[in-house]
Amino acid sequence: MFQCFFGLFLLPVFGLLVGLTGTNAECPVELNPQRVVVKYGSSVSVNCSTNITHKGIGWEASEGSVPKKTDQNLTTWRVESLTRWDIKSFCYINDAKQCEIDLPITIYKTPDSVSINTADHTGPMTEGSTYKLQCDVVNVAPVQNLIVKWYKGETLMHNETFTDPIKTPVNKTSMLQITPDRSHDGVQYRCEAELELGAEGPQPPPAVTSEHIQMTVLYPPQHISLVQTIGKKDGDVSLNCTVAANPSATYTWNSKHLKETRTSSVLSSSLLSPGNYTCTAKNLLGDSSKVFIINSAGDRSTVVAYILVLRLLVALKIII
Ligand SMILES: *[C@@H]1O[C@H](CO)[C@@H](O)[C@H](O)[C@H]1NC(C)=O
Ligand SMILES: *[C@@H]1O[C@H](CO)[C@@H](O)[C@H](O)[C@H]1NC(C)=O
Ligand SMILES: *[C@@H]1O[C@H](CO)[C@@H](O)[C@H](O)[C@H]1NC(C)=O
Ligand SMILES: *[C@@H]1O[C@H](CO)[C@@H](O)[C@H](O)[C@H]1NC(C)=O
Ligand SMILES: *[C@@H]1O[C@H](CO)[C@@H](O)[C@H](O)[C@H]1NC(C)=O
Ligand SMILES: *[C@@H]1O[C@H](CO)[C@@H](O)[C@H](O)[C@H]1NC(C)=O
Ligand SMILES: *[C@@H]1O[C@H](CO)[C@@H](O)[C@H](O)[C@H]1NC(C)=O
Repeated sequence: MFQCFFGLFLLPVFGLLVGLTGTNAECPVELNPQRVVVKYGSSVSVNCSTNITHKGIGWEASEGSVPKKTDQNLTTWRVESLTRWDIKSFCYINDAKQCEIDLPITIYKTPDSVSINTADHTGPMTEGSTYKLQCDVVNVAPVQNLIVKWYKGETLMHNETFTDPIKTPVNKTSMLQITPDRSHDGVQYRCEAELELGAEGPQPPPAVTSEHIQMTVLYPPQHISLVQTIGKKDGDVSLNCTVAANPSATYTWNSKHLKETRTSSVLSSSLLSPGNYTCTAKNLLGDSSKVFIINSAGDRSTVVAYILVLRLLVALKIII
């Protein structure tokens, strides 16, 4: 259904092309199919037919030519194993004069391999630096129909197409520049080489995908809020300084209320006295400090409100 629709759509385009290239647009023969997409090494067969009386109809081709026939209105060009990248084929008919129609042929070959690597870089990456990922596609044809797609997880990030008019298999490299941040740590990248061969080609388009590479990104700790106030209502308080970092951060605590050094990321105790506790998380890329303020028992805001009300009452009394 889809192919049929596409065929109808292509008809006027094909007619126009034939007109433009100077081939006789009036040539009263019909090719079926009008163009072919063939996998390298596989078979192909195309009919050329007419419904006028003529002096001969035949195929001229680099391989599999069909001699001129005068007693038939249909002639079939057939090759069992197409292995000529430069193949050319056209159907001709002899009437008052000879005219011919070229058969457009696309021969394709899926890549032998598709591989991904971090170009000239090994080991983990650092947040904020720029790197290149490289995708190598080996032995693919035709490169004009090749599209290299880059995926981060399952998201298409980028694709690249090529315009070289070469028909024989080539090797191609696609590059992707990335500036990883902390969210890229552990994320997988892959590339995929797809041959977009149009409606006459195989559906879905043939594709070869690379392995995944998993990113390791080094980044310093970074607290989102730098100050946190904690009311000491229920006795037990927990100061949680845990923060993401790669490699993991080490922790130091600073407070005049602490007697011994603490190295855990969480301080949890009912014995912590009110005051400021400063925690510093640190790894080889940097550090980040956060101040925890433990309020003394009683909610400071209600105390403030209470004082305000008292002052108002006093002021009212004075006015009265
Ligand atoms: C054959 O005849 C039909 C109808 O008369 C016409 O539409 C068609 O184009 C003809 N085919 C060729 C190859 O001339
Ligand atoms: C070509 O013609 C032959 C004989 O009429 C027929 O069997 C075959 O299906 C035709 N092929 C195409 C692609 O139309
Ligand atoms: C070919 O077509 C012509 C014109 O329509 C017709 O007269 C002739 O009989 C046909 N020949 C064959 C072999 O079908
Ligand atoms: C290729 O990428 C462009 C944008 O970069 C996008 O619009 C297009 O749909 C992509 N093509 C395919 C086949 O995914
Ligand atoms: C493509 O790469 C392969 C393997 O690296 C090599 O054997 C081959 O000769 C290359 N082909 C071309 C056209 O450069
Ligand atoms: C501290 O915070 C981290 C990250 O926000 C969380 O995963 C962890 O469970 C918390 N620990 C405690 C003891 O609350
Ligand atoms: C506690 O830390 C806060 C916020 O950094 C600061 O404004 C306040 O002066 C500190 N209090 C003491 C007693 O150091």
